[in-house]
Amino acid sequence: MCGIVGYVGGQCALDVVLAGLRRLEYRGYDSAGVAVLADGGLAAARKAGKLANLEKELADRPIPSGPTGIGHTRWATHGGPTDANAHPHLDNAGRVAVVHNGIIENFAELREELAGRGHRLTSETDTEVVAHLLAESFSSCGDLAEAMRQVCRRLEGAFTLVAVHADDPDVVVGARRNSPLVVGVGDGENFLASDVAAFIAHTREAIELGQDQVVELRREGVVVTGFDGAPADDVRRYHVDWDASAAEKGGYDYFMLKEIAEQPKAVADTLLGRIDAGGALLLDEVRIPAAELREVDKVVIVACGTAYHAGLIAKYAIEHWTRIPCETELASEFRYRDPILDHRTLVIAISQSGETMDTLMALRHAREQGARVLAICNTNGSTIPRESDAVLYTHAGPEVAVASTKAFLTQLVACYLVALYLGQVRGTKWGDEVRSVVHDLARIAREVEEVLETMEPVRELARSLADQNTVLFLGRHVGYPVALEGALKLKELAYMHAEGFAAGELKHGPIALIEKDVPVVVVVPSPRGRSVLHDKIVSNIQEIRARGARTIVIAERGDEAVRPYADHLVEIPVTPVLLQPLVATVPLQVFACELATARGNEVDQPRNLAKSVTVE
Ligand code: AGP
Repeated sequence: MCGIVGYVGGQCALDVVLAGLRRLEYRGYDSAGVAVLADGGLAAARKAGKLANLEKELADRPIPSGPTGIGHTRWATHGGPTDANAHPHLDNAGRVAVVHNGIIENFAELREELAGRGHRLTSETDTEVVAHLLAESFSSCGDLAEAMRQVCRRLEGAFTLVAVHADDPDVVVGARRNSPLVVGVGDGENFLASDVAAFIAHTREAIELGQDQVVELRREGVVVTGFDGAPADDVRRYHVDWDASAAEKGGYDYFMLKEIAEQPKAVADTLLGRIDAGGALLLDEVRIPAAELREVDKVVIVACGTAYHAGLIAKYAIEHWTRIPCETELASEFRYRDPILDHRTLVIAISQSGETMDTLMALRHAREQGARVLAICNTNGSTIPRESDAVLYTHAGPEVAVASTKAFLTQLVACYLVALYLGQVRGTKWGDEVRSVVHDLARIAREVEEVLETMEPVRELARSLADQNTVLFLGRHVGYPVALEGALKLKELAYMHAEGFAAGELKHGPIALIEKDVPVVVVVPSPRGRSVLHDKIVSNIQEIRARGARTIVIAERGDEAVRPYADHLVEIPVTPVLLQPLVATVPLQVFACELATARGNEVDQPRNLAKSVTVE
């Protein structure tokens, strides 16, 4: 969850590192810091709070710069967001600097050991032990990469580490276990970062690092080994297929607004190249042989947060189209309930970042049990796809705002494609049926566009509710996960109590929450689907209205049955029943974003949150 940047080359390292940190600040913003090598020494600056605080510190107290440097933006795990806990951390002699993303689980015993050898540790962090251990190892071996390998062999937990040493000013060394780190390969310069966004202004050639690897970065080249020192034989170089401008705001006030507006293109891009001229599916990137998919007798979806809500919707499609039992599980709970898995279980791990530790650990558990794992991911080269048997990438482009929007819609598209593919491969969906759904999916981009063009009343409504303390969300069938997602958006953006319920649960308790003027958003299923469902939710709307609720109804165009009971009616395009979440979610995203803005909140970087949760 932290942002890490390393640089060695002909430019001013301080400038390159700070520019990279600006692109990574969404990964964590409790503190920031830099260390650069110059004039035979090491200079460092670090400051609690946002990157702007560090930049002010550097303006007030400039540090010298040279060709080599590292930097860090922090999301606090061990130790509060203070100057003393900000990275980089140095050894007592001030010759080594290290930045870290992850958690070192055995740091307490290492800390005790170091103190016993006279080291003076000055922070509450787990990271600081690495600086002292590196200093010790370097003093005996004289090589920073070897020192890093020796230290990494002693660490337990998840870590990305990047370090420099004043005695070797031409090298930056990195290491990774269970946490992201990519190399940017330049011309006479090289980069290390937690995310390619930090260096794509300079190069779009990247190398993904594997598990338990150390990388030695010099101007003239990059050397990758295992923690044991053996040369790495799985170094994969790739070209980053989006440019620096894609990572910018493109004229919008917030990344989230840009990403909401990009959803039609993201949906269309995720379908690209996956449908042949005849309308059949082409998912050969799902590198699990058709024969094995025909053996699958259970699907388990593991994910967190918004990705979990996508998985809840996928469950309806998978069971309806393939007749395979499907469970959707919170990744953080999954492996602790001792799930029943074997080689006939297909586990689908959904993750935008591809680095969510809860989801990564869940898929590892699944693979240990013999299950096959298919990742649905938006980040090329990230850990979750690398550790899965197959991956279906969403093509949403970089999603920078912490609150996930376009990634969610493209996760849904990917889930529908997987469900259809399973049906196609197993013969539970005939070709014409697959083509019909694919045709419907191909229209969704335009339908999302239509929704986006009619959002001004939703924004006005959101602003009028800025002083509310709570908003409830109701839905049935695939509208229930949409209600959960709408509530999550409001929680994480407006810092407001918001809760999603299955509408049928209302009378089993939650209806006690209804009182005069409580805003309740109701996601209404299509009357063309299970009409009984539609009738029941109309009854639910009447029940809450009778108790004073202010009803905000999301319903398909032409659904006149709900109009008399809607204080606010938000009409969405008519879509097939299972695809409705693709259009019903968008008003809820806009609603939450606008209400948060009206409250003066930091929309792209909500408090306490980070874009990628790389700790359990
Ligand atoms: C969504 O708005 C949240 N930022 C969060 O719930 C997120 O969906 C969750 O942490 C999973 O992240 P991932 O998709 O990168 O695995």
